[in-house]
Amino acid sequence: MSERCFHMTRRTFMLGAATFAAALALTPRGLLGQPRAPIRRPIPSSGELLPVIGMGTWQTFDAGDQTAGGDLAEVLKAFFENGGTLIDSSPMYGRAEAVVGDLLKATGNRDKVFAATKVWTDGRQSGIEQMQQSMQRMGVDVMDLMQVHNLRDWQTHLPVLKEWQQAGRFRYIGITTSHGRYHEEFEPIMRAEPLDFVQFTYNVEDREVEERLLPLAADRGIATLINRPFRGSRLFQRVKGKALPEWSSEFDCRSWGQYFLKFILAHPAVTCVIPATAKLNHMQDNMAAGFGRLPDAAMRKRMLAYYESL
Ligand SMILES: NC(=O)c1ccc[n+]([C@@H]2O[C@H](COP(=O)([O-])OP(=O)(O)OC[C@H]3O[C@@H](n4cnc5c(N)ncnc54)[C@H](OP(=O)(O)O)[C@@H]3O)[C@@H](O)[C@H]2O)c1
Repeated sequence: MSERCFHMTRRTFMLGAATFAAALALTPRGLLGQPRAPIRRPIPSSGELLPVIGMGTWQTFDAGDQTAGGDLAEVLKAFFENGGTLIDSSPMYGRAEAVVGDLLKATGNRDKVFAATKVWTDGRQSGIEQMQQSMQRMGVDVMDLMQVHNLRDWQTHLPVLKEWQQAGRFRYIGITTSHGRYHEEFEPIMRAEPLDFVQFTYNVEDREVEERLLPLAADRGIATLINRPFRGSRLFQRVKGKALPEWSSEFDCRSWGQYFLKFILAHPAVTCVIPATAKLNHMQDNMAAGFGRLPDAAMRKRMLAYYESL
């Protein structure tokens, strides 16, 4: 064998190093097998630390047949193996709560989950029955977070949420919206009510919440859950076939998914982002956004300008 074969060219070495670095980014372990800690942020009302990447379940976990959920079990395992805890569901998402509950049990992750769901009905008794059913479906005795979905009949449900929080059945309570809807109604509730969490849409295209709701959440000490971080996958259409800018490595970003998630996470008023996926490789990709460096304010502007130029 010639001596040449024993020497890597600089290019081969760089490619090998990049592949190795990318592989590391997809695992919770760094060099020398040291666990790499996911980025966590405090819930202002308690100080409890929450990993910044959570998981949504709309459509992705509304599996038609629970027994066919083999792939979803792998997706869920990857979520926990990469340090995730918060799973967001709703009785509006078909079988999602039950599928999550079954898979938490099957994969042995019940004790690790931060379970979040919603009440989505009219009337006090109907709300009570629905919330009991959600806890049973998700397999939890205490729901970590109960939210009023899209403010539906919130004047009726919020007093019950407060009572059940006092009684220890819910650890945290909140309200949700999406797509820039109900913002005017949201704001006075955030000012008047003792909410632990608010949930709304924020992504590189839908940025209305930068104006009022994100600053208000920071002022009032309310944790924020960010839904539709990929605009339901529409953001990927604009960047299809486009290369990431080389400077995205400065904040440890190796995919467009991570670009979109790190843009959101770099906002100081964001507590946790909840992308949804039914695919293992997408889950690994999304979880990697919760590790490493985040862009600073100047870099966020650059990211936005670059995305808008495509
Ligand atoms: N009012 C409310 O309370 C409200 C409203 C909307 C949403 N939510 C919550 O927020 C969660 C997230 O929002 P969303 O599900 O509407 O939209 P989203 O997370 O913005 O987008 C989900 C879509 O992105 C794709 N995707 C995920 N990761 C990807 C990756 N790394 N690369 C490429 N594609 C990827 C998924 O497809 P694959 O399965 O193929 O990966 C899926 O089609 C919901 O699931 C729900 O829990 C709450």
